[in-house]
Amino acid sequence: MPTHAFPPDFIWGAATASYQIEGAAFEDGKGESIWDRFAHTPGKIFNGDTGDIACDHYHRYREDIQIMQHLGIEGYRFSISWPRILPLGDGPVNEAGLAFYDRLVDALLEAGITPFITLYHWDLPQALQDRQGGWASREIAQQFTAYADIVSRFLGDRVKAWTTFNEPGVAARAGHLSGEHAPGLKDMAVTARVVHHLLLAHGMTVPVLRQNVGPDVHVGIVCEQPYLEPLTDDPKDQQAVEMAEALGNYLFLDPIFKGQYPAQITAPDFPPMPIEPGDMDIIAAPLDFVGINYYMRFRIGHNQRWGTQPPRLPDSEYTEMGWEVYPPGMTRTLLNIYHRYHPKAIYITENGAAFNDPAPVDGVVQDPRRVAYLESHLDAAAEAIQQGVPLKGYFVWSLLDNFEWAWGYSKRFGIVSVNFSDGSRTLKQSALYYKDRIARERHS
Ligand code: FCB
Repeated sequence: MPTHAFPPDFIWGAATASYQIEGAAFEDGKGESIWDRFAHTPGKIFNGDTGDIACDHYHRYREDIQIMQHLGIEGYRFSISWPRILPLGDGPVNEAGLAFYDRLVDALLEAGITPFITLYHWDLPQALQDRQGGWASREIAQQFTAYADIVSRFLGDRVKAWTTFNEPGVAARAGHLSGEHAPGLKDMAVTARVVHHLLLAHGMTVPVLRQNVGPDVHVGIVCEQPYLEPLTDDPKDQQAVEMAEALGNYLFLDPIFKGQYPAQITAPDFPPMPIEPGDMDIIAAPLDFVGINYYMRFRIGHNQRWGTQPPRLPDSEYTEMGWEVYPPGMTRTLLNIYHRYHPKAIYITENGAAFNDPAPVDGVVQDPRRVAYLESHLDAAAEAIQQGVPLKGYFVWSLLDNFEWAWGYSKRFGIVSVNFSDGSRTLKQSALYYKDRIARERHS
């Protein structure tokens, strides 16, 4: 294992998202989100689960902060629920919603934990979906910017690290093409519009954050980056990988860092992007960092149906999600992103694994496979640093077992176990491993 790889200012963090943990879905004036609506639509979520209560973090955030403090976690990446702030998407502000994030941020700072805010982790106000088709309409870019303005004016004196979007690619595709996520559409033309409007909203928001937070602001975006490899050495498989990279891994980052969409999306069989003059310059607003969510290797063959995985390799390990565990893919992804875009800083904003955990014994959940997953990926991160990548932090996904979107509570990603009947938290062995690893790296 490389030693002294992690720089002294490296942030050891944990990540969550509003709809997945907060609960209090209809409390204190919060408006309905597309995930509230979707989860309450029969047949959409495994077991009919909803985020109504989730981890009840809205009420238990102090306990969760104490847990982080106990583990030595230094950074907390969480998202803001847009409909908690603006129940109708725009219009009147819900002061009680702002007050919750005010308390949360103050409690984090008191505990010595740096807040990293994500403005959008998929819970769009339902009112905007109903009124204008959500992200399909261009007006949304202005509405998102106005929401970001309100939040950053309010918290920008204390929160310096801001992310506009979490995995806009997943929001676009799973929400509007495969229909597995809210709002559950299956429409290619709508998806193209959504992609462009997410990017436009991102680009318009960056200068607002700089203005409201001040010169010490740290602004970025978070994108999913599975490590893609051809299934065989057939050149057609390599071409399939390049297409998948263009439509997945580079679809958002190329416009942001290079000011243009990957060439593949202008192919005649794709619906046109609704680009207006000046848009690409807005989208390419300079950033301070890019966040990478890395989970797996994805092997691609040219005959494979989009989004499906090929047969499993006998020697590879797979998580409960069916995702292949492949730590070298993290090193290679970090190197690739660094050399392709030259961002000033990179963070691993999510990395972790769902496994079937046993019941607690003597107050601890034994999860040796998650421990091994974390260890091997932290080593892979260290390797990337040694090869010159300016990796500034790592956020484990996730602090808590939570509502895993269409999978409901059936997939557990936490380093802390949550009993969803009574809300109680129990540390897993992986949390203790993380605590120990942070302490070791800090004192090495
Ligand atoms: C990512 C999401 C996050 C969580 C993990 C497992 O795609 O950003 O909310 O669901 O996957």
